[in-house]
Amino acid sequence: MHMSTQRARVAVAGASGYAGGEFLRLATNHPFLEVGTLTAHSSAGATLGAVQPHLRSLADRVLAPTDAAALAGHDVVVLALPHGASGALAAAIAEQPGGSDVVVVDLGADHRLTDGAAWRQFYGTEHAGTWPYGLPELIHADGTRQRDALRGTRRIAVPGCNVTAVTLGLQPGVAAGVIEADDVVAVLANGYSGAGRSLKPHLLASEALGAAAPYAVGGTHRHIPEIRQNLQVAGAPGVTISFTPTLVPMSRGILATATARLTPGTDPATVRAAWVRAYADEPFVHLLPDGQWPSTAMTLGANTALVQVAVDEAAGRVVTVTAIDNLVKGTAGAAIQSLNLALGLPETAGLITEGVAP
Ligand SMILES: NC(=O)c1ccc[n+]([C@@H]2O[C@H](COP(=O)([O-])OP(=O)(O)OC[C@H]3O[C@@H](n4cnc5c(N)ncnc54)[C@H](OP(=O)(O)O)[C@@H]3O)[C@@H](O)[C@H]2O)c1
Repeated sequence: MHMSTQRARVAVAGASGYAGGEFLRLATNHPFLEVGTLTAHSSAGATLGAVQPHLRSLADRVLAPTDAAALAGHDVVVLALPHGASGALAAAIAEQPGGSDVVVVDLGADHRLTDGAAWRQFYGTEHAGTWPYGLPELIHADGTRQRDALRGTRRIAVPGCNVTAVTLGLQPGVAAGVIEADDVVAVLANGYSGAGRSLKPHLLASEALGAAAPYAVGGTHRHIPEIRQNLQVAGAPGVTISFTPTLVPMSRGILATATARLTPGTDPATVRAAWVRAYADEPFVHLLPDGQWPSTAMTLGANTALVQVAVDEAAGRVVTVTAIDNLVKGTAGAAIQSLNLALGLPETAGLITEGVAP
């Protein structure tokens, strides 16, 4: 296929959910993508306009039930399903004629972890396998970036949103050896859309609007092994992380404060240079000017991660703060960025760096 003249046809499974909806918002504005079949689960049979009324150009599309047959005949299939649902569906897609040539992009967790034992420990089911990891900016210990593994790939495991924020904050220091990864502490402020669209009492406006509330405290959050995996790829010999997300009254956004011990003997004045170097050439990850701190609002609707770093000399720790939109750089934007690499398109095609303000 010549991508410069022809659009890749994309089917989306889970089009009624938040991640699927955000993928469609970006895909409809992408110069080289064309939206094909859309599927859903409980809302199959409804129009997309009934469940995602903000997606005007696709409002008349009818949602099909989710199965491999409905998703056949596309260049790209995006799986925006609850974790555990995409493993079997991806296997069925692979078995169809030409199925191994289809680019399958999983927004869920099923194919992110390289360690099957970590999957079983945190998810409690059999491991579906490991796909190329969809964080192009991930630094490898040898100095290369993950984007090299995404060019031309036919399978993409898009990272968890919290994982992206914490990894982008800390990885420059890990790769440069100026922080130690055996005592990482990350506390995050999270918008409610990160929990998906399902109805749960703690997500009701009456519970949520006036409160900040932690969840998955005490080493239980499923993103922990994925963060460990990434920091090890960046060169950390071992990673110990205390990770605590906190729901705060906003619909989108993650503000991740991640700290680690300064490596003994490191001159604090040299620390910032590691972050400058790591992100100087990245189109979507920006180190803010010294002293300017990220806020989630700066990244709303954009495929941007904004990072700041400071050395707390009295505490002997390096403090990083990273802001992303969980639905864009945290999932659907990362999916498009990685898909661009898979299809041989410019990595930035169809993506914007400008947020929505005020
Ligand atoms: N929200 C985020 O910020 C975010 C960020 C990164 C990654 N992700 C990942 O993206 C995936 C989707 O998350 P989401 O936030 O979009 O969740 P969501 O809003 O709850 O949407 C889930 C989607 O999956 C469908 N679905 C539900 N149960 C299903 C089943 N048993 N089989 C097939 N389809 C089923 C739903 O269809 P119906 O509505 O028709 O029932 C809906 O389209 C998850 O794996 C999540 O971890 C989400």
